[in-house]
Amino acid sequence: MVIIGGRYAVVTGASRGLGKELVIALAQRGVSSIMIGTNENVGIVCAEINARYGVRCVSLTANLCQKEEVMALAEKINSQYEIFMLINNAGMGGSRAFLEADADYIDRIIQLNARATALLMHELLPNLLKRERAYILNIGSMAAFTATGYKTVYPASKAFLKHFSYGMREEFKGTPVSISYASPGAMATNPEVTARIEKQGFLGRFTLKTTEKIAHKCIRQTLRGKKHIIINPLSYLFSAITPGCIKNAIMTKIVKREVVR
Ligand SMILES: NC(=O)c1ccc[n+]([C@@H]2O[C@H](COP(=O)([O-])OP(=O)(O)OC[C@H]3O[C@@H](n4cnc5c(N)ncnc54)[C@H](OP(=O)(O)O)[C@@H]3O)[C@@H](O)[C@H]2O)c1
Repeated sequence: MVIIGGRYAVVTGASRGLGKELVIALAQRGVSSIMIGTNENVGIVCAEINARYGVRCVSLTANLCQKEEVMALAEKINSQYEIFMLINNAGMGGSRAFLEADADYIDRIIQLNARATALLMHELLPNLLKRERAYILNIGSMAAFTATGYKTVYPASKAFLKHFSYGMREEFKGTPVSISYASPGAMATNPEVTARIEKQGFLGRFTLKTTEKIAHKCIRQTLRGKKHIIINPLSYLFSAITPGCIKNAIMTKIVKREVVR
């Protein structure tokens, strides 16, 4: 076994959006990441970050919807790298009428958001547990707090992540590994999400924050061992005090505008 020097953070979905910003926030603290993406673009982004911040990030590719690829990735990381942080950020979602969404789309959301996170934690925890202090951050969503029609599988997958993260945090209490869950609201990370946020009107804009701010808050609070990293306190408060029967109906009405013309 060849262990490559230094201690790394593993960041999934690191080629763009919040994942790339998390890698930059870590680089600004002198931490090098193992950046995971689906294709060679992640290597290009990795080289740019190394040149700009003087870190030694490396890039690996894997389709995290495929169990074999998740397992092979974890094996490669365990055989070559000492890691002290795992950030499960890669995720996908969207707004579709349930019966108009194809079966593969539904399957991919569940595999990426839920299964890949659980398997990566299972496979990489032994590596993390060898450190004096180590961290896992799972990127969820404000969507986890509201059962929303026309999104259905996405909020359910993020609710899975929340409960899973909290349960794992209990199980690993007293060990070197601290497990955090973050629930960002809207981020204009790609053209599809940006168009969706615009269609949501005031509510979409209300929770909007830059990925840079969110990434720094996530890293700061993960390193402090925070259980739930709340990105938008006002929308979280609104969500916490509004009964499910009201917020579920309001959100479904708003999201319906995105899919029904
Ligand atoms: N954007 C929002 O408004 C919002 C709000 C709340 C929560 N979130 C959550 O925040 C996280 C980041 O969102 P984002 O908007 O920054 O995402 P994004 O811009 O859509 O980027 C997605 C990232 O995930 C990677 N990815 C996608 N499918 C993958 C697969 N099958 N295997 C491995 N990697 C895969 C992509 O890699 P490639 O580039 O190689 O495809 C990319 O790096 C997600 O978990 C999302 O659910 C987002």
